[in-house]
Amino acid sequence: MSLISIALHLTLAAAFTPPSAHLSAVINRNQPSSALFVTTQSDTAISTKEDDDSSNDDWWKDFQLNDSTLAESVIKDFPILSTKFDADGKISNEGTKRLIYLDSAATSQKPTAVTDALTSYYEHANSNVHRGAHALSREATEQYEDARDKVAKFINASSRNEIVFTSGASEAINLVATSLSQTCGKQPSNARELYFKKGDEIVITEAEHHSNIVPWQMVAERTGAILKYVPACSITGGFDLDAFKELIGPKTKFVSVQHVSNVLANINPIDEIVKIVRSEAGPGAKIMLDACQSVPHMKVDVQELGVDYIAASGHKMCGPTGIGFLWGKEDILNSMAPYKGGGEMIDEVFMDHSTYAPAPARFEAGTPAIAQAIGLGAAIDYINGIGMDRIHNYEVELANYLRRRLNDVKGVTVLGPPVGEERAALCAFVSEAVHPSDLSTFLDVEGVAIRAGHHCCQPLHRALGYSHSARASLYFYNTKEDVDEFIKVLEDTLGFFGSLSGDTEDGTEEKDDAFVPIF
Ligand SMILES: Cc1ncc(COP(=O)(O)O)c(C=O)c1O
Repeated sequence: MSLISIALHLTLAAAFTPPSAHLSAVINRNQPSSALFVTTQSDTAISTKEDDDSSNDDWWKDFQLNDSTLAESVIKDFPILSTKFDADGKISNEGTKRLIYLDSAATSQKPTAVTDALTSYYEHANSNVHRGAHALSREATEQYEDARDKVAKFINASSRNEIVFTSGASEAINLVATSLSQTCGKQPSNARELYFKKGDEIVITEAEHHSNIVPWQMVAERTGAILKYVPACSITGGFDLDAFKELIGPKTKFVSVQHVSNVLANINPIDEIVKIVRSEAGPGAKIMLDACQSVPHMKVDVQELGVDYIAASGHKMCGPTGIGFLWGKEDILNSMAPYKGGGEMIDEVFMDHSTYAPAPARFEAGTPAIAQAIGLGAAIDYINGIGMDRIHNYEVELANYLRRRLNDVKGVTVLGPPVGEERAALCAFVSEAVHPSDLSTFLDVEGVAIRAGHHCCQPLHRALGYSHSARASLYFYNTKEDVDEFIKVLEDTLGFFGSLSGDTEDGTEEKDDAFVPIF
């Protein structure tokens, strides 16, 4: 990597990152960047280096994935994965570096089966749903409702009426939070009384995505309910069931937790959580699962889970952006006040009041994201074509491989479960020497797309003692070679920064405190 391209990309990083002063930290040998983003140290969910059972540093060279053909066989379905970059990291057909996409926890790539479904809808069926008495409208309605059936079957809902299309998981959570903190008093039998009363308790965790924190803060503000947090971390980075149990009691009215953490990668013990709530919480307490990071990667059966609602994003499971869904038990959805008012969600409208359609229409006011829902249906067909179990098994192996390889990288600390423990297909990590934004910028030049920031989990990062982390997240189209290339570029980058800071291989510091003349 040339100094010119480094300078260029540091300039870019400076333009796109908050004034964290990471730039000056990078070029000032006296001020390591770690000082800028480490807050208070904590013993919590940070897994430090462990001894690997292999004494051989090159163990990974001979390592073979059991199902090494999975990613190879699907890559052709994702044209974007053939993107090439030139020496400066710009997209270029003539480039020699290939894209290594390690940001699927933010959004997955889309196979041609999905983009074709979008095009086909617009070219052959574009019309509004549920409205027109003409052939196109009937076709659009059929495809849209067909997508609802596919989602219902995918998560084993007991009825298609339990699937409400939303713009994403954030909207699904906001829908429930908003609906339960408003009334629709004129509707006989439905939501005449506010669900949340002053003093009711809502329990979430410190590890939640902001989408599963902020809506509940808003509910608390609106209704006088009290928001309680399970502390983010235990030594292993898992869910602190003891702390959770202490928070659950007769005043608990609502519990909302993530299924899989988008930072720690731990999979929460939903069975135990449900048992505790059902036995200790107030009558009729509801449980919501933020299933954003589980539904795309493992079999999720809502009837087995025993919760009342789940929220998921379509765009993280090969579907288009702008689509996600809420699943809720049918009787519960039908007891709730509408979320938004408008066309399609009503039964009858009078001058002084309206009555409302049953779920799911009650929660789908206005023209829905028709093409996107159809695209999500195509994504589900695509995923089913590979097989959810096959995807899950492959990802478990690749995630373990990534975790082990990161464990061998000097100066890197991985958040969440240690090597060998169950984790989802992502690793968030920090380096003692390099700010995550600098890391992602340098990796980007080499075509490696990772994410840097707080990943919409500021309370979690604070609890861990950091303000940011870097994150590499995988999906079934990633290969062992992707992980190897990522580790190579990461090690090169850390080595480069190490040489700037004067660190030497033997751990002594070179005596030179001048600025590196980058600009
Ligand atoms: C755990 C978790 N919850 C919620 C969200 C928000 O999802 P959406 O973008 O579909 O609103 C995300 C997205 O990153 C997430 O990872």
